[in-house]
Amino acid sequence: MENLIKKAANTIANAQNIAALTGAGISVESGIPPFRGQGGVWERIDPMEYAHIDALIQNPVKVWNMLIKEMASMVGVAQPNDGHKGLVRLERQGCLKTIITQNVDGLHQKAGSTDVIEFHGSFAWLRCMQCNKRCETGTADLSVIPPRCECGGIFRPDCIFFGEIIPPDVLMRSHQVSSECELMLVIGTSATVQPAASIPMTAKAATGAVIIEINPEPTPLTEQDSDIFLQGKAGDMMNRIGKFMPSSFGFEI
Ligand code: OAD
Repeated sequence: MENLIKKAANTIANAQNIAALTGAGISVESGIPPFRGQGGVWERIDPMEYAHIDALIQNPVKVWNMLIKEMASMVGVAQPNDGHKGLVRLERQGCLKTIITQNVDGLHQKAGSTDVIEFHGSFAWLRCMQCNKRCETGTADLSVIPPRCECGGIFRPDCIFFGEIIPPDVLMRSHQVSSECELMLVIGTSATVQPAASIPMTAKAATGAVIIEINPEPTPLTEQDSDIFLQGKAGDMMNRIGKFMPSSFGFEI
């Protein structure tokens, strides 16, 4: 394993255009549960009953009561971990250009990453289902469920529900980033939800990008597209990679 980590570190240190694709797993060490697998959100909650756009439209009170509980562990509470911080170091060094995240927790930005594509939207913002006005979740009155806009419409989190499509501008930018990078770090995603799951394939097809995957468990990508699979937790693995990086990357702990 140490040899593989060293190889990954060398590849990262020599790359000039890196993109990252992250999923729920990168925030697990920050105390946010993933969706799938042991302790996952979808073990407790049926996504079709609570995370589908039709469920929100038909029963906003029920969906909002669940969201309030889930958001409580995220918005404003969770702190970035060494996985998020490692990506900030790579950005500051100039080699990591963009993070495409499926997460709605805002932890990449909280850690200091500046170019983050929120592929599935964000919990940091609400959007009125009637007039489309946006409002910061932290400033919204959540004492009445569902929260309402001045226009009387119901606010929803500005994130993607099942049954919704990814906004075209988000898709286009993600496509551009993935088809230009020479290395993609794929961290903490089960790579099972499309179209996000095919982003590494786009990178590989476009430039022959090297795919380095970090995950405690193998995923459908591991066999198919990953060139280096580092089996482990995001924060822990980032620190182990850091030990082999040139000191200019600032990984010393
Ligand atoms: P998943 O919950 O599907 O997968 C989480 C992945 O993280 C799994 O492969 C785990 O093995 C891995 N993992 C667990 N702990 C980890 C750790 N400490 N470090 C690194 N990896 C770890 O999450 P996503 O792939 O992000 O969509 O899920 C994709 C989408 O499915 C989500 O964005 C969400 C969900 O339905 C929407 O809400 C639209």
